[in-house]
Amino acid sequence: MIQKYLAGRLKIETVAIAIPNLMPAKIKISHLTDFHYDGKRLSDRLLKQAIAASNQWEPDLVVLTGDYVTDDPQPITQLAYFLKHLESRYGIYAVLGNHDLHHMYSRSLITETLQGIGIRTLWNEALYPLSHSNLQLVGMPDYWDRAFDAAKVMGQVDPQQPCLVLSHNPDSVLEFSGHPVTLQLSGHTHGGQIVIPGMGPVLAKMSDWRPPRWLLHSLPSDRANCHKVVKHWEWAEGLHQVGHQQLYVNRGLGTYMPGRFNCPPEVTWLELYSSATTTLPRNTA
Ligand SMILES: [Fe+2]
Repeated sequence: MIQKYLAGRLKIETVAIAIPNLMPAKIKISHLTDFHYDGKRLSDRLLKQAIAASNQWEPDLVVLTGDYVTDDPQPITQLAYFLKHLESRYGIYAVLGNHDLHHMYSRSLITETLQGIGIRTLWNEALYPLSHSNLQLVGMPDYWDRAFDAAKVMGQVDPQQPCLVLSHNPDSVLEFSGHPVTLQLSGHTHGGQIVIPGMGPVLAKMSDWRPPRWLLHSLPSDRANCHKVVKHWEWAEGLHQVGHQQLYVNRGLGTYMPGRFNCPPEVTWLELYSSATTTLPRNTA
């Protein structure tokens, strides 16, 4: 019940992104992230709304960018009961977040449970998710996991074709700076959760703040470590140009205490379109 007041209302963000040489000329993607399904941080009501919103977009692909649980991975079983209602024309792909790796068995349990409902979890893998498209999809382990290996996975990618990366932590975009990545989709930040109009996420202003030792012991570990969440709070949400790449950061669905302000939970409706189609001169004879 408390999530209803802490999280606020779901917001659908519609984002059109130009992808050079994309075939076909338009691909619809639904992006969901950061569920934190643990009985405290995401209500079943909001989860159902998010799944309905995703289905309403009638996406070609659905992508999930991690943090299905918070600590104990067991709730993934109940979460899967809801996620199996996600609809996609050509498949549902997932990557794991830092919270999906807290225990030795977390990765296998979450991966196998998602697999059981037809969701493929990518771990340093590249593939073509649409048989009629040149779009390549790369899925990464969590950035803080030692298995994260951008160079290895990019060796599997055709540099001449568009490449979409799924990577939970937006800081990881810098690992692809020398590689032909067109767009990265991330979550992890929850948008900062508390956003002051005209100022941005409060956490961005606190990124250099270290709780004093006496306070460190009395704070829950997740808040005591809030300054460690990301280095680049300037990418806390929305679309950014980082070098030659585009980065989109979804605010996610789950909510930590003390809640959200001016930072609603999000489902993203992405429309990738071939930039070649928009740069053609108009009214040419
Ligand atoms: Fe998260």
